[in-house]
Amino acid sequence: MSNGHEIETQITNRLNTGFVGRQIYYYRQVATTMETARDLVKKGAVEGTVVIAGTQTSGKGRIGRTWLSPEGSLAISIILKPPLKNLPHLVMIASLAVVRAIKQAGVEARIKWPNDVIIKGKKVCGILIENEVAGGSVNYADIGIGINVNFNPRDFPEIADIATSLSHEAGRQISSVELAAELLNELERLYLEAQDGAPVHRAWRQNMETPGKRIKVDTGIAVEQGYAETVTEGGNLILRRGDGSLVEIAAGDVTVIKD
Ligand code: BTN
Repeated sequence: MSNGHEIETQITNRLNTGFVGRQIYYYRQVATTMETARDLVKKGAVEGTVVIAGTQTSGKGRIGRTWLSPEGSLAISIILKPPLKNLPHLVMIASLAVVRAIKQAGVEARIKWPNDVIIKGKKVCGILIENEVAGGSVNYADIGIGINVNFNPRDFPEIADIATSLSHEAGRQISSVELAAELLNELERLYLEAQDGAPVHRAWRQNMETPGKRIKVDTGIAVEQGYAETVTEGGNLILRRGDGSLVEIAAGDVTVIKD
């Protein structure tokens, strides 16, 4: 990527959004875009404000994990202020927007419940959503998206076995600017459709790999094992245990059990 201001302009020129990405802050390096976004919210950032970083020194993953953001990755935070009832949709909207943006770049990806994006079983994107709710309304939500774009995961032993990247899969460099713009375009479209009452869970489910697989889910409280039957409109996973009973799970870490 080129310098910060140029990158902001290159992305803006490719946007067809009304508000998402109309205010972009690009940084060559930050600790984590989640923190930068939170600071911007405190300073009055408008809905749709986007933070993009070339690299992160303290990238945050789900459940207290770290997220590796070396040169060649895309780290992005999108500040939204949805009605409270639309908050649960953000998980679906974000992962679906990523899958569609990646497809535009010529690569097929799938969703691993709840919101990882994978290619041939390996993780190419992670999503972390933080929000602040007070008095029955959402002060802000930050959709944090990390995509492995142009680096070789094999150069990073800590993720080499479980992760892949777009360039690795496509066998060529992928434009981070085009990918980011497409992601923001898709995200706004889905976000507005969801607020109009569109059933976003359907497309989310169609692009998901997990149902139909035998899996293990670590919820942080328990480890459940069984057959992934489906996902609900609210985004929960319905798992059939070995004894035939059903359990509905709101979030967790999924491992596919190989037969
Ligand atoms: C996960 O799969 O554990 C979620 C990873 C989320 C990573 C993104 S990169 C942009 C934003 N900034 C962060 O520090 N984390 C999220």
